Amino acid sequence: MQGRRLATTDEIIAIVSPNSDDVVAGLESWTTERDITLSTVDVGDEIGEQYDPNRATLGITIGGDGTFLEGIKTFAPRNVPQLGVNTGTLSFLARVEPEDLNAALDEVVRGRAKVDSRQQVAVTGSSVDATGINDVTVEHVPPENPVDSKVTQLDVYADDEYVGEFEGTGLAVSTPTGSTGISLSANGPIHYPVDNHTLQLVPLHTHQLGVRPIVVSPSTELRIVTRGPATLLVDGGRTHTRLETGESVLLTGADRLAHVVRTSYDDHFFTAIAKKLGWGIRAVDDQPPTPRSETERALGSGSHAGTISSAIPTATDADPAKSSSVADAGETGSRSASPAVPSTGRDDRTTLEYARTVATEAAEAAGEPLRELHGQVDSITVKSDKSDIVTEADHQANRIITTVIDNEFPEHGIVSEEQPRRNRADGYTWVIDPLDGTGNFAHGNPNYSVSIALLDCGTPVMGVVYVPETDELFSAIAEVGARRDGDPIETTDRDRLDESMLISGYDPDGTFLSHFYQESRGVRRLGSAALNLCYLASGSADATWEHDTHPWDIAAGLVIARAAGATITDERGEPFTFELETDDRTALLGSNGPLHPALLGHLKTGLSDRGADR
Ligand code: IPD
Ligand code: CA
Ligand code: CA
Repeated sequence: MQGRRLATTDEIIAIVSPNSDDVVAGLESWTTERDITLSTVDVGDEIGEQYDPNRATLGITIGGDGTFLEGIKTFAPRNVPQLGVNTGTLSFLARVEPEDLNAALDEVVRGRAKVDSRQQVAVTGSSVDATGINDVTVEHVPPENPVDSKVTQLDVYADDEYVGEFEGTGLAVSTPTGSTGISLSANGPIHYPVDNHTLQLVPLHTHQLGVRPIVVSPSTELRIVTRGPATLLVDGGRTHTRLETGESVLLTGADRLAHVVRTSYDDHFFTAIAKKLGWGIRAVDDQPPTPRSETERALGSGSHAGTISSAIPTATDADPAKSSSVADAGETGSRSASPAVPSTGRDDRTTLEYARTVATEAAEAAGEPLRELHGQVDSITVKSDKSDIVTEADHQANRIITTVIDNEFPEHGIVSEEQPRRNRADGYTWVIDPLDGTGNFAHGNPNYSVSIALLDCGTPVMGVVYVPETDELFSAIAEVGARRDGDPIETTDRDRLDESMLISGYDPDGTFLSHFYQESRGVRRLGSAALNLCYLASGSADATWEHDTHPWDIAAGLVIARAAGATITDERGEPFTFELETDDRTALLGSNGPLHPALLGHLKTGLSDRGADR
């Protein structure tokens, strides 16, 4: 299933069609048991005070596709994700059956549901300003006398280029979601709607056989100019207007996407299509099994996601000989494995691959509110000093990530900067910085990241760092390799300090800057320790320095940098270690390897000069 994870729900607003009392009653008892606020609104009525923009709201529609479309009009402008319960007959959009609603909602609150962000179409003109999730049609006005002409002529332009004159009963501009509606009946193609943002222009009842549907990007501006009176309908008439002769309307992809919640209780898209269209190319009741991924096979998980924690060794499964402190996997100048790093044999590898998938989904889900709140922070709480700050966004991101991880791996420990620690020194522990670079974030600077690591008995074995503003994803499994957006990355092999690019993290008295600025090609101070290590890993820096760090700042970046070939030590060249139990902060010098001796030499001089100054 694609799309981002939905992790938190404080309240539910249900838009309800007539005759849905049983479903509503079931929903009421489900929400009461979980202390989630429920408001219901009759379809066609406005939601008002029920909606609180400061709470995580889930929209539900109970009815058929018509009710779902009404829900989109209500929820999409508020960015509220929407789940459709199908009590209608032919429903493509509302895909959860009433008897599955509670189980589907359990998936939602356990962080297992996903959100597909669907493209909408926007139409503007002198008499219309509307958005639709399915389609906009421009058609002839029905004649008073049925034998009169039903043909209309429309001139169409794409980004000011003349497409041509369309003669027929009209035109439909549909989204991928709407491709199974009017445009399908006019022989348009079906679009798989996930992550598909194209629009298509489909001629309706044209007499010219050679005129075919045209697919355009969401940024294309389609202009339709009428040569006679016409009717414009959005989503089958939810908005409608009459266009006069010579009137022009502009259609393009809407900026606001509609957020549709998907659970494992939905029919899959092609199953729904096959059932509803009676597709002969697929025997619906006798389908071949869906190919399962290697991970699913290894973990034995079914299509209705079961807990996978049993597949991850628990404390008692783990090797008791492993140290609870973090041992270095790549000591000075060496890429060889330390005995403290667990073997990533095939089974461990599969397990860690699954952990990476969950961490990636959690980080991307957290990235969504971070992007929305970036640069708009109005409340900052100072923690230990004026540069140690936390915002509401840090807490929101933390809640999303820990909900996802806790539900997937309830027996694992979680050590996050923003909540009390639950370390599992003899098992698996997740180390999380939900927002690394809060200072940058609060000031509207894009250099911030989400950092999630998995430790096995204290040893970092998997790391994910997500950069919401650039949508870059760095990840690694110890000893296996590091990637950026799926492509392998590695450190540089530069060995001359005067040709190197360095990054300085926290450097309170400027020791690193003053000792390296003249010696190197440059020293950059960027503001996210996790990201600094990823830049080292991907070769845009040759070394990085932190005067002191917390484990959550660097745990994920450490796995990524080491797997990319970096050498990581403390300021004296000793193997880098950190403790999860204490608040001790640690110095970190990371480099590509060949530069490490020169860096350590200069650093020692710098540090002893600093000692002498004191
Ligand atoms: C900080 C950043 C910064 C580093 C500080 C960290 P935060 O984390 O990683 O680059 O120099 O030491 O505390 O507070 O933004 O999560
Ligand atoms: Ca941090
Ligand atoms: Ca932080």
